[in-house]
This record gives sequence, C-alpha cells and structure tokens, in this order.
Amino acid sequence: MTELADLSELARRRGFFFAANEAYGGTAGFYTFGPEGAALKRNVEDVWRDHFIRELGHMELEAPTVMPEPVFEASGHLDTFDDMILECGDCGATHRADHLVEDAVADIEDAEALEPTEVADLVAEHGIVCPSCGAPLADRPIEEFNLMFGTNIGPGSSSPGYLRPETAQGIFVEFPRLKEYARNQLPFGVAQIGRAYRNEISPRRALVRVREFTQAELEHFVDPEYDDPPLERVADVELPLYSAAAQQDDGDLEHHTVRKAVDEGVVGSEWVAYYLGESMSFYEDIGVDTDRFRYRQHLPGELSHYAADCWDAETEVGGTWVEVTGFAYRSDYDLRKHAEYSEEEFTVFRQYDEPKTVERATVDPDMSYLGPTFGDAAGDVADALEALARRDRSAFAGDGVTVEVDDESYTLPVEKTGFAVEERTESGEHITPHVVEPSFGVDRLVYSVLAHRHGTDEVDGEERSFLALPAEMAPTSVAVVPLMTKDGLDDRAREVAEELRAAGLEVAYDDTGNIGRRYRRQDEVGTPYCVTVDYDTLKEDTVTVRERDSTEQERVAVDELPSTVRRLTAGATLADL
Ligand code: GAP
Repeated sequence: MTELADLSELARRRGFFFAANEAYGGTAGFYTFGPEGAALKRNVEDVWRDHFIRELGHMELEAPTVMPEPVFEASGHLDTFDDMILECGDCGATHRADHLVEDAVADIEDAEALEPTEVADLVAEHGIVCPSCGAPLADRPIEEFNLMFGTNIGPGSSSPGYLRPETAQGIFVEFPRLKEYARNQLPFGVAQIGRAYRNEISPRRALVRVREFTQAELEHFVDPEYDDPPLERVADVELPLYSAAAQQDDGDLEHHTVRKAVDEGVVGSEWVAYYLGESMSFYEDIGVDTDRFRYRQHLPGELSHYAADCWDAETEVGGTWVEVTGFAYRSDYDLRKHAEYSEEEFTVFRQYDEPKTVERATVDPDMSYLGPTFGDAAGDVADALEALARRDRSAFAGDGVTVEVDDESYTLPVEKTGFAVEERTESGEHITPHVVEPSFGVDRLVYSVLAHRHGTDEVDGEERSFLALPAEMAPTSVAVVPLMTKDGLDDRAREVAEELRAAGLEVAYDDTGNIGRRYRRQDEVGTPYCVTVDYDTLKEDTVTVRERDSTEQERVAVDELPSTVRRLTAGATLADL
C-alpha cells in the first residue's frame, strides 16, 4: 500500500478520522475526527496555544463563524477569492482547472499562479480529458468560482452572510475594541483557533483539501516604522528555506539561521523570518519530521490579494508537498479596507516623543452656497474638499477648485471652500498598524504528524504497526491492561486505571483479546506506555510499565505510578527510573 492509502486505512480503522455522513452516502470534503483523532487534534491545538499565545504573551478570541457580506466586500474575498473551474460538457462533472493541468503536465507544480487563458491553452495543448468520463475538455470555458459558502442571516434574503473562509477576518473586524484591550499600545497579537469553510471545487487527499477545517491564526499588529521583532530569541534557529529564486532556477533547499536569512535578504521581512524561527520548535514538538519539512517562498504570481511577502511551511507526505502554514506580511491592507467600508476607526494613536508644530490644510465650506448649487451631492462635495485639502493643498492655489464625487466633477470658487492653512501643536498621529500573520491549518498538521510518525517494525517475529507520537501528543498517555481477566486481575487493573485518571492522566483500560494484541492496539494509536497488572501485582503491589518504542519493561510500585508516568511523559526513559 502507498503511504496515503496506509494512512487513510489506519485513520479509519483506529478512529482518527473518517469521511463524514457515510450513513447518507458521505459528503465530499467533510471529515469527522474520531475519538483518537479528536484527542490528537486537541493536543496539537494545545501545543500551538502554548507556543503562540501563552509563551509570546498574545491574546485569544473566539468570533462567530458566520459574518455579514460587507465584511467580505471589504476584505476582498467577495471579488477575488476564486478558483478556476472547468465543467465537463458530457457528464457535467466540475474540476479545478489548475489541478488538471498540474496532474497532466510534469513540469508545472503551481498552475494556480497562471492566468485562466494560460490554463485553457495548456488544457488544449496537452489534450486533457475529463477525469470522470474521459471526454476532451479543450473547448470548455474556464470560469472563476467563488469559494465562500453563502447563507442568509435571519429569514428572507435582505441580509446575506458567509461562512468565514479564514478566521483572520473575525480578528480584523474587532480591531477597534481589541486595541483598547491592548491599551492602544503596539505591537500586540491576537490569535484565534476555529473553523473555516471553503467550498473547494475538488476536495482531495483526505484532510489536505477539505471544505470545513480548523485554522490557528495569529494576527500580530505592529507599527511599521518603530516595531522590530525580537529576533534574538530565534537568531540561531536553522531554517530549511526554498526561496522563490531557487524554485525558478532549479536550485536546492538551503539551510540558514534566522539571522543569516535576514542579513542576506533571503527572507525579506524580518517579522516573517522571526515567525519562521518561532515555529520550528512548534513543528518539532508536535511530531513533524523536520527532514520532511521546508519553508517555501511564494512565487510572485502566487501571492494572495493582501500579501506583500509570503512563505509557506510545507511537509512531505506520500511524495508530495503539503502546505501546512502560510506566513504573510499583510501590511495595512485589512485594517485600511475595513476602515474604508465601515464607520469605525482602525488606527492607533502614535505618541510623539515631543509635541510637534505642524501645518494643516483645512476647509470650512460655505454650505449656503454648496446646498443650492449642488443639491443632494453637497455633503459629499464638502467631504471631497476636505480630503483634497489634506492630500493636495496646491489644488486650492487658483480661483476655482474641482472635486470628483461618484464619477461626477464639481467645480466651485476657492473662496466658497473656506480653505486655510493652520499651524497646530500635535502630540501624536493616528496610524494604521501593519499585520504579520502566521496561519496554521490544524487538520493538515494532524495529517502530517500521523504520516510522519507511522511506521512498522518486527517484534517477537511479527510485524508491528506503530505510531511514534511524542508522549505529550498521544491521545492516551497510558493504557492499563490486566494479564488475565480472572483471579481479580481485571478488578485490580480497573482500580489502577481509576487512580491514574484521578491523577489527571489520559488513561485507556483494555482487557479484550490476548495481551500481545492489546499492546499492538495501543502501539498503533501511539500510546507511549502500557501498564500490565499481573499476579505479582496482587502479591507486591507492583506493575510492569512497557515502553512503546523500545518495547522494554520495568517494574514500578503502584503508589509511584502516577508520578512515574508523568516523568516518562515529560522525557525520562525507563532506564532513568
Ligand atoms: N488567513 C490566511 C489564510 O487563510 P491560507 O494559506 O489560505 O491563508 C492557511 O490558509 C492555512 O489553512 C493553509 O496553510 C492550510 O494549512 C489551511 N487550509 C487552507 N485551505 C484548506 C483546505 N481547503 N483544507 C484544509 N486546510 C486548508
């Protein structure tokens, strides 16, 4: 079996994840995390929370998953969050056009960055056919398909809304309140772990491309002129970097420390480099194999509509690279857009060291002239005059001044504008913060960890399938197994399991099948330790502790068991006991 087939089979059989709603024929692109998977995913989220919120001192919020349409008009998702769709003329199946090209043309790995016309040419040139029915697709039109799931908020259709395609917008729209919690002091970071929804044209590769998934996103608001990242925290961390230049010139992965990557300009944004550095230990802690891991820079055509510089963390699974995290420098794009489309201020006040005397151009339009002259447009003309005075005071140098409102020109005498240049003493200014965003896909991380940690070996002449999860990530910390289900061994084993649970550990109790099979079952779901209750337990109140990876065993007193398991989970080995 291939690694991917192996993984899906293990995930289904052992309750990590499986296709949702199978009783009703299944729903493509939706997965249910079973008991083992839900626990593993929760552990990934807890480690993330520890690294990116607690340790870095950021805030966390929980915003609604449905948001009203104006949010996505402002964010640009309504206009630009599209994929290229190609519908088969014969069977009606829909496909993602760029994926068809990537699958058919060996040297094209990222067709998403191409224009629809270029993709159409490639479909024709390579004689690409419908994967569902085999009909040629050369003459079929390629259209843009918006990936957001729409809905109506309340009855009727007067208030359209969308399931959020990224958790980030729930943070941006609350910025006016959040800055108050941050006492108007930059920099500050706000994180959110939650569901995001994308109506993917072709969901595929299990958890890799799904229609509902969990993101863990951090939006770090910074002053672009004054805030530098604490690079010294991560300066010596080694990064495996695959730059845009290396991708374009058939170059290789290069290893640089964060410091060198910044000094040599391999990573253009210091903030992005800083988060690449902070993230390395997170990937290691959750169990990603860093030999199957890289940071890849976006090619120029690949950048999102909001991103100024972007790198992805990618893991190798089944011979292909999977994007697990996007690191973007989003500049002031999001806050500026929400300020433009809403009634709120998305700025913070930057205090000067010393008050400054500055010249300000102002207007005080004569409304007794503007009203009768411009009618309903008078208010907008007054606003346009104020904006023009701030932007270009030379426009008021002649006798008349012209402003544009909704594609109409309005001209009036300068004397009716009340234009003046005043001197003022100001203690600071309002600025729009910039945003640095590490955005993690939790489902893809869980998938990568399962792929990287799954292995097989031979124990006692039999093949064993195991999941070598770091102990802190394992869904179950310890399994208690009685040697036999007679002579009171099972009763004592249940008591031992209860004692371990009472000590706060995640405990499984298993008495079905022979002891070897029970060990195999626990090995396969990644349980790092098995505790066996045998006849000596009844005599001396000791148990054996078996280690998953070495399969070695050590005898431990029952009353020392909780502290022993804790020490082992924190990194001690059986030999240290
Ligand atoms: N706020 C930025 C943002 O959403 P993105 O690169 O579109 O950026 C971030 O998404 C991460 O979310 C990706 O790196 C990936 O891990 C995950 N992700 C995106 N689309 C996904 C999908 N359809 N299925 C599973 N995970 C997905």
